[in-house]
Amino acid sequence: MSDTAETLENLLKEDRRFEPPADLASNANLTAEAYDAAEKDREAFWAEQAERLTWDTKWDRVLDWDNAPFAKWFTGGKLNAAYNCVDRHVEAGKGDKVAIHWVGEPEGDTRDLTYADLQREVSKAANALTELGVETGDRVAIYMPMIPEAIVAMLACARIGAPHTVVFGGFSADALASRLDDCQAKVVITSDGGYRRGSASALKPAVDEARTKTDVVRKVLVVRRTGQDVAWDDDVDVWWHDVVDSASEEHTPEAFDAEHPLYVMYTSGTTGKPKGILHTTGGYLVGCSYTHWGVFDLKPDTDVYWCSADIGWVTGHSYIVYGPLANGVTQVLYEGTPDTPERGRWWQIIEKYGVTIFYTAPTAIRSFMKQGHEIPDRSDMSSLRILGSVGEPINPEAYVWYRHVIGGDRTPVVDTWWQTETGSIMISPLPGVTHGKPGSAMKAIPGITTDVVDDEGNSVPNGSGGYLVVTSPWPSMLRTIWGDDDRYVDTYWSRFKKQGYYFAGDGAKKDSDGDVWVLGRVDDVMNVSGHRLSTTEIESALVSHPKVAEAAVVGAKDEDTGQAVCAFVILREEAGDGGPEIVQELRQHVRKEIGPIATPRQIMIVPELPKTRSGKIMRRLLRDVAEHREVGDVTTLADSSVMELISEGIDKGA
Ligand code: WTA
Repeated sequence: MSDTAETLENLLKEDRRFEPPADLASNANLTAEAYDAAEKDREAFWAEQAERLTWDTKWDRVLDWDNAPFAKWFTGGKLNAAYNCVDRHVEAGKGDKVAIHWVGEPEGDTRDLTYADLQREVSKAANALTELGVETGDRVAIYMPMIPEAIVAMLACARIGAPHTVVFGGFSADALASRLDDCQAKVVITSDGGYRRGSASALKPAVDEARTKTDVVRKVLVVRRTGQDVAWDDDVDVWWHDVVDSASEEHTPEAFDAEHPLYVMYTSGTTGKPKGILHTTGGYLVGCSYTHWGVFDLKPDTDVYWCSADIGWVTGHSYIVYGPLANGVTQVLYEGTPDTPERGRWWQIIEKYGVTIFYTAPTAIRSFMKQGHEIPDRSDMSSLRILGSVGEPINPEAYVWYRHVIGGDRTPVVDTWWQTETGSIMISPLPGVTHGKPGSAMKAIPGITTDVVDDEGNSVPNGSGGYLVVTSPWPSMLRTIWGDDDRYVDTYWSRFKKQGYYFAGDGAKKDSDGDVWVLGRVDDVMNVSGHRLSTTEIESALVSHPKVAEAAVVGAKDEDTGQAVCAFVILREEAGDGGPEIVQELRQHVRKEIGPIATPRQIMIVPELPKTRSGKIMRRLLRDVAEHREVGDVTTLADSSVMELISEGIDKGA
């Protein structure tokens, strides 16, 4: 009896549906017909979406897939991404419209930039970069806090056709150096520091240190943000306020080929070496502007949009910079942490600027949930009409809390699935169409085709799980991995070569209606607070420590961060038991090698690692240990007593 009641309860829970609000549905940008239109003629559908941009020369072919999987979209077309994000809005009479309400972390430290301001700043920065010797095709790295100059820098690069590579400010000097090196960045744009958790946190020293590890960098352009002391190399370092402020405000944007590289974004893969994901200009911008308009039902004249991501990640690229600005919206940009100076900071910002569309990550939602509804309840957030989620699966409870406490039960929640590689949103509810289910990203948006397949690449029936694939090319898809075409083909296109499907690396389930529930990575990539980390990369960092002989890293379930980094380490004999500080020392080491986001939650010193006869580490078993579960099937281990040794060791240590 109680079992039945429980099952029923679960079913009822799974059956929660949220209909689109009637007024939203009747005015929606994207309606149910869009699915049919896209299905009937996908290329015509994308050509229509491309019309939302301003092209200098129109394309002659929508898709060139002749050399698959190397795609070309809108071939023959020419455009300038920065012109599309800035100048054309000024030319359309919207120069006085606020593009960015910037909110610094210190209270009262705010700045509004109109589209005309942005045009001036971007033009000056473009002139300054040219002055510094940056030419079309040169790579420029950006390592900055969330200040307007970061966006200006990205657009200035786009304006002169110099692909940017933004490196998240939380990455260490080593991680920065390897990225600079991989894409041979000639110039780095940075700042003295930025504000995080109430104090000034330095950035420039990491650039200085990175320059001792690679000699590719010719110039470092430094924005003064915090006023903290910086070391200065007269041959290399230049202040932004010296060279940008004095540069001319006039700059004519050049039209580039639709396939001209726009940027390289590094992301973790299954090996230790991060992959430089290459996005090009035309198709990428079409994907970002279309999805930002359609998935968020954007009404550019009345909406105030806010995406809380950092510009160091793809979400910041597509949904702070390129999508929203191409669509000419007013948006909020916030520099700091959500709880500085107090826990209600985000909600106060929403109230102050009348934010209507808010886009954030499940990990943030879960941490607010823990603090209770009293804090958000203090702010008037009745302006909100749509909420978005991205970066990891959103658990149904967090979805319902988000909708209820933040959205006042009025707002649809769009759970958007996509990746650095996909460039823009692929699977998501449409706010004016979909009856949303908490926990499900629902189905591919119009223009995109996805499936869940088995090992052989066959579509699984409803109710079953498998691998998430994209079954046809799309405009904002990655074009390659920077400098490594083979790895591009291997990683994404060899798994389901026969079918020609893009392998996303995620597992997913189709429910009885055929709607998609993304389950998470099926490879050695972890997702910690929505940040992608590679197990191998952290293992390599650990093994580079002189006391470490071997290391295995797994992502264990974590209530707050989705997954947490758990490391199992075998010490070298000469290190003895490593001493009481060893765990601290190793955590510090990982921070230094990769950055704070990669710091293991837990490091366990063990005598052995579970390996198969062919020497492959069985991470599944380690995950059992890390998640305090009974250890699963050990029969394929070369030595089945290893797991006992590990468990005993850990018990002793605890
Ligand atoms: C995960 C972030 C479930 C997924 C835009 C993917 C998600 C990886 C969702 C990409 C979602 C992203 N539901 N999982 N709505 N969105 N993911 O490249 O595992 O930083 O492969 O791009 O995040 O992470 P990336």
